[in-house]
Amino acid sequence: MSISLVLGGARRLGRAGWMAAIAAATAAAVMVSGCKPEGGSAASDTIPVGEFASLTGSEAAFGRSSHNGTAMAIDDINAAGGVLGKKLRLVTEDNQSKDGESQTAVKKLISLDKVVAVLGEVASGRSIEGAQTCQKYRVPQISPSSTNPKVTEQGDCIFRMCFIDPFQGTVMAKFAGGTLRARKVGMLVDVGAPYSVGLATFFKERFLADGGAVVAEQKFTKDDKDFKAQLTAIKAAGPEAVFVPAYYGQVTLIVMQARELGITVPFIGGDGWEAPELLKGPGAAQALEGCFFSTHYSPDQDIPKSREFVAKYLAKHGDRPDAMAALGYDSAQFLADAIRRAGSAEPGKIRDALAATKEFDGVAGKMTLDAARNARKAAVILAIKDGRFAYKETVNP
Ligand code: PHE
Repeated sequence: MSISLVLGGARRLGRAGWMAAIAAATAAAVMVSGCKPEGGSAASDTIPVGEFASLTGSEAAFGRSSHNGTAMAIDDINAAGGVLGKKLRLVTEDNQSKDGESQTAVKKLISLDKVVAVLGEVASGRSIEGAQTCQKYRVPQISPSSTNPKVTEQGDCIFRMCFIDPFQGTVMAKFAGGTLRARKVGMLVDVGAPYSVGLATFFKERFLADGGAVVAEQKFTKDDKDFKAQLTAIKAAGPEAVFVPAYYGQVTLIVMQARELGITVPFIGGDGWEAPELLKGPGAAQALEGCFFSTHYSPDQDIPKSREFVAKYLAKHGDRPDAMAALGYDSAQFLADAIRRAGSAEPGKIRDALAATKEFDGVAGKMTLDAARNARKAAVILAIKDGRFAYKETVNP
């Protein structure tokens, strides 16, 4: 039984494991000090920063990229002397891409590791879970890349580094009606994911307002692997494009099965498509050729701060950074900047400094923070071309 059991690197404990670890470490601290554990005793010369991420499981590509960016920022901040004379210490928890794990993870970070702020998540549903806990304890949370409006609606301690889905939905509705000249679209929505449901709603609103028609609206859930029934119905409705606001793992299956059924029109989606895994596996890249999705960042964009970041990231990870990595990086820099401006690492003061932010200039570009703690920021459209993600255009808000 030791505190080091739960400090440091990312842990893969289930809910029961976390609970046991929290209880064990609390007991150990009581025994050592003879009093109630208070304050970050592990290292008071460091500032503990929490992160929860999907490092394993169905959206592991999200968690890995986001974590790589976040960790790189923490290293850069510390190499430049840290914040308020202290180094930042990142404590990461893996929620295994499972619904229902993020509250426990965040509770552990706050009550056991005494983190001053929490970074995460990528998927909106899990950011919402974490936000409920952060708001309850009034510890600021910054989601790097969750786009559903409900994330920051959890309360005044919750922030994000990215645009929200009413904007992203509009971007893709305009793209479908404009660039693709589609008048009729089909949609396939993951009804269990707030991200998917929200983005579908905002896309549809705009597409209809622009005079288009949604000719088929089909549903699925997280563990589905066979989409033939839904795709058959979509095919029968004769759409000129199909919008699939889902996460990469299922998108690949959906588009491959669509091609098998003879659906040849472009499939389009949002940031949830972005992962190298989208194009992996036999036939995947071929099925997705000529498809498009919106996201937050491309290493091909001409952003001054991005150049050095891309080179460093490539050298360290052997791959260029994607949107999650860039926004993960910016989320940690945004936090460090707020701690500096607050002149204190007290969660309430950090919250106020974050809320007072007007503009932030990051590796993923400039953003303006609005009163609802959401970022106003440009979107990027990527094409799948020659088996890779190709930068197509930037869309300003
Ligand atoms: N925006 C997605 C969500 O809210 C997550 C995501 C962000 C996925 C960036 C990929 C890239 O669920």
